[in-house]
Amino acid sequence: MAEKSDVPAIAVLGSINMDLVTTTERRPEPGETLLGTGFAMVPGGKGSNQAIAAQRAGGAVQFLGAVGDDVFAGELRRVLTDSGVGVRRLRTVDGPSGIASIVVDSGGENTIIVVGGANARLTELTEDDLDIIAAADILLCQLEIPLDTVSAAARHARANGTTVLLNPSPVQRLPAELLANVDVAVVNSGEAAELGADLAAIDHVVVTRGGDGVTYRGPDGTELSQPSLRVEVVDTTGAGDAFTGALAAAWHRGPEWALTWAAAAGALATTKLGASSSIPTSAEITAALAAN
Ligand code: RIB
Repeated sequence: MAEKSDVPAIAVLGSINMDLVTTTERRPEPGETLLGTGFAMVPGGKGSNQAIAAQRAGGAVQFLGAVGDDVFAGELRRVLTDSGVGVRRLRTVDGPSGIASIVVDSGGENTIIVVGGANARLTELTEDDLDIIAAADILLCQLEIPLDTVSAAARHARANGTTVLLNPSPVQRLPAELLANVDVAVVNSGEAAELGADLAAIDHVVVTRGGDGVTYRGPDGTELSQPSLRVEVVDTTGAGDAFTGALAAAWHRGPEWALTWAAAAGALATTKLGASSSIPTSAEITAALAAN
């Protein structure tokens, strides 16, 4: 068998959004108007964030996704290319790009509403998409694009020996066929509770628990846990994406190392405002691990 390259080829199929981020002391109650403390527009979307995270953490990433033909599209494309992510399968479709309305409170906790826009139009996989998936070491998906597209990609990946890593977020019930084609699931504790027994069908399950660290269960019953790095939290937006992308980039080195690497990436991502703007490089992850 050919040796796995130390730079894994990763196909990320998913969403890309412009995040409209408002900071506030506390989040408003229903019907309440508050004065915010700041506003920023930052490229985000779980797919794009994870693609950037995987590239910065050591992978060679191709992003499969869609932007609209609006004012946000150029900036969304640019943040990927600036990070070195391949964008030859980033389509431009008519209409608006995806957006996310995000409120971040003074404790760094967020609430997010996503309007899919172009992401919802990602209903077809082309021959070129399928070739990229088949040639990749890892296919990484989330659930901010149509579920049928994710299922088709996972089916093709499984048929071609590509490892399928799924972050089922925003969480929804998963069809049995998709569950059967997923090798690694990355969920937070809320998603783990919601998916419950469905996760039993998946060989490797990684559960992120915020400041309480990460747990892992493997196919042979192996269980691992990894504490969080202690950091000053500014904004938790995109921390799960930084974790998941870094996990994909390090997966070929085994779950124990991948968890350590990804937990550091996730923690570092909470120390800055915004999603794509907070994702660490491999040099930053290495330095944080050395310091801890
Ligand atoms: O996981 C964080 C991301 O969720 C944000 O960037 C936002 O766009 C939503 O997709």
